[in-house]
Amino acid sequence: MSSAAEQKTNAAKAALTYVEDGMTVGLGSGSTAAIFVRLLAERIQKEGLNIQGIPTSKATEQIALDHKVPLMPIEHASKIDVTIDGADEVDGRFRLIKGGGACLLREKIIAAASDLMVVVIDETKLVGRLGQFPLPVEVDPFGFTITAKKIFEALRKTGVAKPEVELRCLADGREPLITDGGNYILDCACGEIPDPEASANALANIAGVVDHGLFIDLARVVIVGEDKGARVMEL
Ligand code: A5P
Repeated sequence: MSSAAEQKTNAAKAALTYVEDGMTVGLGSGSTAAIFVRLLAERIQKEGLNIQGIPTSKATEQIALDHKVPLMPIEHASKIDVTIDGADEVDGRFRLIKGGGACLLREKIIAAASDLMVVVIDETKLVGRLGQFPLPVEVDPFGFTITAKKIFEALRKTGVAKPEVELRCLADGREPLITDGGNYILDCACGEIPDPEASANALANIAGVVDHGLFIDLARVVIVGEDKGARVMEL
């Protein structure tokens, strides 16, 4: 196993300790969250736990179904005890960039509805400043070129020197990727986001923006997988 794969597995293993019998658990998206879902399935079977999962994407829903993790429609959940999810970048104040897998909208709805969000990452995701990873912004397809210009201006106004906004396409490079919510993703190469709160607020105020990949004040626990074991950081 590569070092990153090993680190993701170690982070996912450590996250299991945040799950208790009877909990409703938000199931994140991406490769690290997928490992967590598989480990959770093993634990449910071994210990006979009563767990209800709420997936943050269709892809995760399928993984959970394949591994027999019981699922609950989010509309039926009175509360979500904990959500375990990955991230593309995490800074020292637990601010995140998410959405590399195009699932940021459901991920944010579920994280914001959870009593606790636990982030599971490998060491490469820890950064001093957010922005090396292009910031995904989910937009309504209607008028997306206009929305893209507004996003560019909003990022400039909030200190990003030279934002580059690009429509995310499928592997063929021609067709736009469509999210689970039926929207487009605009990836914004920023280099550095000097004021994530200001950028987050400015993006949220643009008509046509459904949501953006800056997750601020949501994560309370970050688990960094290492080659041997994991480091748990709590705010
Ligand atoms: C999905 O939209 C993302 O937010 C993922 O959580 C993020 O891309 C991390 O994915 P990996 O665990 O595959 O790195």
